[in-house]
Amino acid sequence: MELFIPGPVNVNKELREELSKPMIGHRSKEFSELYNELIPKLKKLTQTRNKVFISTSSSTGLMEASIRNTVSKKCLNLVNGAFGRRWHNITKRNGKKCETISKEWGEPIRKGDVEEKVKEKDIDCVTLIHNESSAALENPVEEISEAIPDDTLFLVDTVSSMGGVDIPVDEWDIDICLFGTQKCLGLPPGLAFFTVSQKAIEKSKEVKDKGYYFSLDRFLSYDSKDQTITTPNIPLLYVLNQQLEDILNEEGLEKRWKRHKEMAQITRNWAKKHFDVFPNKGYESKTLTAVENTKNIQVTKLIQKLRERNYLISNGYGKLSEKTFRIGHLADKKPSQLRNLLKEINDILDLV
Ligand SMILES: Cc1ncc(COP(=O)(O)O)c(C=O)c1O
Repeated sequence: MELFIPGPVNVNKELREELSKPMIGHRSKEFSELYNELIPKLKKLTQTRNKVFISTSSSTGLMEASIRNTVSKKCLNLVNGAFGRRWHNITKRNGKKCETISKEWGEPIRKGDVEEKVKEKDIDCVTLIHNESSAALENPVEEISEAIPDDTLFLVDTVSSMGGVDIPVDEWDIDICLFGTQKCLGLPPGLAFFTVSQKAIEKSKEVKDKGYYFSLDRFLSYDSKDQTITTPNIPLLYVLNQQLEDILNEEGLEKRWKRHKEMAQITRNWAKKHFDVFPNKGYESKTLTAVENTKNIQVTKLIQKLRERNYLISNGYGKLSEKTFRIGHLADKKPSQLRNLLKEINDILDLV
């Protein structure tokens, strides 16, 4: 099946073969060698000098980890879609004080929306989704970052964009940046990563009740031994090492970002010709497109027909279920494969 959903994504055959390599012990010398290859590559990918940690969990786990380790006063959750809302729920369920600034799905959060609120003395952390997959919208992280005071931590979810879009973590002053394997990295699900600034590490020292699995103290302690906190998903680490090599040294980051932009443009052009693009102009995601269902087609039927032709796309997320449909164009997909999908949709819907 050709996956054009916003993740998981198709994984190349050569990479899948890496998954079957013999196992090693996670406290062995061989493991530390692998770890020492991975960390510098992850730092290059994220353009950071901060610490980078590997977690055997999905990214939601790290949304929780980041909150548990950093919020001691009050967190401001910026919400303009389902994943922003999820981070707010996680913050609440972890017993942290929190507030939201919310915008409609499809509308970006701007610096002007937050600059007064973030100055309040009791706000110590701000969360933001870079690429809000539910509305296929890219929030202007760099602009919002300018409003965040020095003594406040900026936590950013780049789950559906890191590896496909230029996100300079240090330049944008992101204290914690988290993402996982199954989106733009083009790998199976099962690992997540977070970059953590010195400021966030210092802050975490004064936070109580950090739990066990996601405590930064433990991430730091095992990192100093070139190891992960518990038994990690070792097969995925092999395949990650290979894929990061390909991303950084075969394709190159610049070309990868360009390919994602090109695929986004192809999809938007097609959507504008036949339907419309859902999020506000200028804030469309580069890794997936939410097509606004202006023709009132039956989205479920389209998905079913495509499935019969071996293609999978997504309906709209949650309340946008029939109002939009989403086409993921991320990871190792090529523009030619995307064009083939669009031809199939044209054929099914009789579009010319
Ligand atoms: C923006 C965003 N954040 C978080 C998540 C949650 O990721 P996971 O399912 O890997 O926990 C997703 C998943 O689609 C996402 O798109």
